[in-house]
Amino acid sequence: CGIVGYIGNNNTKEVLLNGLEKLEYRGYDSAGIATLNENGIHVTKVKGRIAALREKVDAELHATMGIGHTRWATHGAPSEDNAHPHQSASGRFTIVHNGVIENYYEIRDEYLTDVSLKSETDTEIVVQLIEILNKEYNDVAEAFRKAVALLKGSYAFALIDEQNKDQIYVAKNKSPLLVGLGDGFNLVASDAMATLKETDQYLEIHDQEIVIVKRDQVEIQTLEGESIDRKPYTAQIDATDIEKGTYPHFMLKEIDEQPPVIRRIIQEYQDDHDNIKLDPEVRQAMRDTDRVYIIAAGTSYHAGLVGKQFMEKLANVPVEVHIASEFSYNMPLLSEKPLFVFISQSGETADSRSVLVRIKELGHPALTITNVPGSTLSREANYTLHLHAGPEIAVASTKAYTAQIAVLAILAVDTAKAKGLDLDFDPLQELGIVASVMESLTDQKDEFEMLAKELFAETRNAFFIGRGMDYYVVQEAALKLKEISYIQAEGFAGGELKHGTIALIEDGTPVIAINTQANVNLSIRGNVQEVAARGAKTCVVSLEGLEKDTDSFVVPQVHELLTPLVSVVPMQLLAYYAALHRDCDVDKPRNLAKSVTVE
Ligand code: G6P
Repeated sequence: CGIVGYIGNNNTKEVLLNGLEKLEYRGYDSAGIATLNENGIHVTKVKGRIAALREKVDAELHATMGIGHTRWATHGAPSEDNAHPHQSASGRFTIVHNGVIENYYEIRDEYLTDVSLKSETDTEIVVQLIEILNKEYNDVAEAFRKAVALLKGSYAFALIDEQNKDQIYVAKNKSPLLVGLGDGFNLVASDAMATLKETDQYLEIHDQEIVIVKRDQVEIQTLEGESIDRKPYTAQIDATDIEKGTYPHFMLKEIDEQPPVIRRIIQEYQDDHDNIKLDPEVRQAMRDTDRVYIIAAGTSYHAGLVGKQFMEKLANVPVEVHIASEFSYNMPLLSEKPLFVFISQSGETADSRSVLVRIKELGHPALTITNVPGSTLSREANYTLHLHAGPEIAVASTKAYTAQIAVLAILAVDTAKAKGLDLDFDPLQELGIVASVMESLTDQKDEFEMLAKELFAETRNAFFIGRGMDYYVVQEAALKLKEISYIQAEGFAGGELKHGTIALIEDGTPVIAINTQANVNLSIRGNVQEVAARGAKTCVVSLEGLEKDTDSFVVPQVHELLTPLVSVVPMQLLAYYAALHRDCDVDKPRNLAKSVTVE
């Protein structure tokens, strides 16, 4: 979910709606705003997107403060009633919330037995609790602090009190929230991207802090009410990077940005003598560890699988790759000197963060590889490597995945060199070739558009197969396709098909094989024959040098280890055009959010 708040003298409504549009990547099943003016609080909510909210909001609405929310449902289905903001019984207090309150039932049963709740959300519990505590303390800030102290779970809140037009009350725990500073106004937002038009000056809020935001003053407090001093920082995002320009979708723009992103990574990780430039502390941590534990979710997890190959094959470092949400409950036996590597585009994924908190308690070091340097995972880890991919807006990740793989390759080679291993592989030079090959692929969009139509226009399901390195890429290819086209898709190890999944092959079932590894060329072709014999519509994407006349597409040659960077591009484009042919909302697929800040 995404939160935005504003207090100043400008047009609150526009600032809130513009901010929410920029936060839609965090969830978009319902939305709402609450504004406060001399006539009191005015709440507008919709089930659906910010565009629908914009239509519904009174065009004449003027206010000098307000809060807004775009939701990704956790407690309670997406509906107008469950949409935020939520109000207390008397209507005096109004709140927006991101996160999950874990002791929701306890609070309800202990404090709210006399209140009739209007929604099914955990959020309403909080605002009702504040009203009850305010009756007891007769001091809103105190009631807010006391309420927050009672809560367990994750939250970012912005609260307004109808009887006070001069402040917004804010708190956070585990969920991200920032305060933006302006001249005569101040802001609150889940992500600086939401309010870049207004300011580039931000204040971090830490867990379990309360912030009182006024027009010309911001006060950070502990839960005990003591003031905390903190210096603002300047957000390093270019506002033009978050516009679509002439592209029909962010996803297509971001696919096309991959070659320049790879070139930027080369620049950022190269010193004046064309050697790898890397934080010496990261180098030391990689040299010191006896085992790397990669922790990630979704597409970042798929990049981690490729990263494992680099680190093991090039640097001789054993690596385990774990899905973040599984690791917390199913922690493996750790080695003596583990190093945790968190891979996360956003740096905010709650599942990954909960692992980070846990392993910090155990005293283990952590490195975060992220696209957002000031993000929670970056701030809380010992070290950070930046992806330099620029803001990624489309929910389906593309350029962050390839940037992650590129940075992991550089890290692996650097580690190998630091350990004195002899390598005949210059990743910076090889990545330069990758960037050019990517360009040649993104120049052939028409071919992928046609291929996507042939393969996916009618089908209910699809299978992707590969072996070795290609197995990791087919998992990402299947995820891309299912995320945005809703075709049921799976990525399989070629040899595993015959142990079950081949039963699903019918006449016309699309099976896409990636074939970039010389050592498995023949065996993956064998698998293609097996499914073709059972009626599958097959498509082989192979690397130059391994191709056959019957292949659907040939990818120009790159270093064998770096093939995922180029073989994934056709897969991204196939998924994109499949979604277009099927009239799906490419950038904002149903039920998903780009940044999942709840566990
Ligand atoms: C969400 C997104 C995925 C993403 C995953 C991990 O599920 O929809 O595209 O891969 O989160 O996100 P992260 O920001 O940690 O890479």
